[in-house]
Amino acid sequence: MQITHTIAELRQALAQRGRPAFVPTMGNLHAGHISLLHEAKRHGAVTVASIFVNRLQFLPTEDFDSYPRTWDNDCAQLRAAGCDILFAPREKDLYPEPQLFKVQPDPALADILEGEFRPGFFTGVCTVVMKLFSCVFASTGGGAAIFGWKDYQQLMVIQRMVAQFALPIEIIGVPTARADDGLALSSRNGYLSAAERQQAMALSQALQALAAAARSAPGSLADLEATAMQALRAQGWEPDYLSVRQRHNLLPPAMGELALAPLVVLGAARLGSTRLIDNLEF
Ligand code: PAF
Repeated sequence: MQITHTIAELRQALAQRGRPAFVPTMGNLHAGHISLLHEAKRHGAVTVASIFVNRLQFLPTEDFDSYPRTWDNDCAQLRAAGCDILFAPREKDLYPEPQLFKVQPDPALADILEGEFRPGFFTGVCTVVMKLFSCVFASTGGGAAIFGWKDYQQLMVIQRMVAQFALPIEIIGVPTARADDGLALSSRNGYLSAAERQQAMALSQALQALAAAARSAPGSLADLEATAMQALRAQGWEPDYLSVRQRHNLLPPAMGELALAPLVVLGAARLGSTRLIDNLEF
């Protein structure tokens, strides 16, 4: 695996290697990231992973400083998975001057769900992803980029960004990797204490229960969501939202659509000081 830090080094490493398949990450890699890399091999001649903890997508109150940085372990996992090129820019390589231009998604997409509780998050994500795409794909004429469905809204926002800016990049979504008890794999799971880890599957269970209730007892969705949030609170969680949405636009479904429409239930909740997200299509 070739390790590159600057954009020039990356582009040199990519020269004459064929179509890149790119997996952007913030490091602290786990089996979910590695499944993205395995998928990448099916979509390109050369696999590229990036590790960059992007300050722009953290609120001042969030965990940017304490976000786990596990360089040696990340490199070992990427090597073992057969990654060809690692792009690990330092902050000065990616943001050599203050970022004066940002990619701001429409509030209809970006100020709901995660965006309601993390204002500016999707502007930070889109800005860095656009910049990383430019680093990887500008000299190759396009390629594929692989994201996990665990970050459901993020993946949707990026799909729209790529379509609306007509970027020659194929966006591939990979199903969420889960622990045996159903907990979605996430870098932030490492913050959980042993006792919290025992309770952590309650989030995915709450989403399953809400999905089943929405299909079988279509009453007021707001009531069903409130009941699901209350049940999670009773287990020691502090939910931000548990919400049933239409898959194609993440808006609430109309009553008549509950029985048949392709839906997704999304949730975000805090267990102790750890905020986790998950979702389930149904
Ligand atoms: O999902 C992530 O890890 C990040 O949001 C991403 C896409 C790497 C951008 O920083």
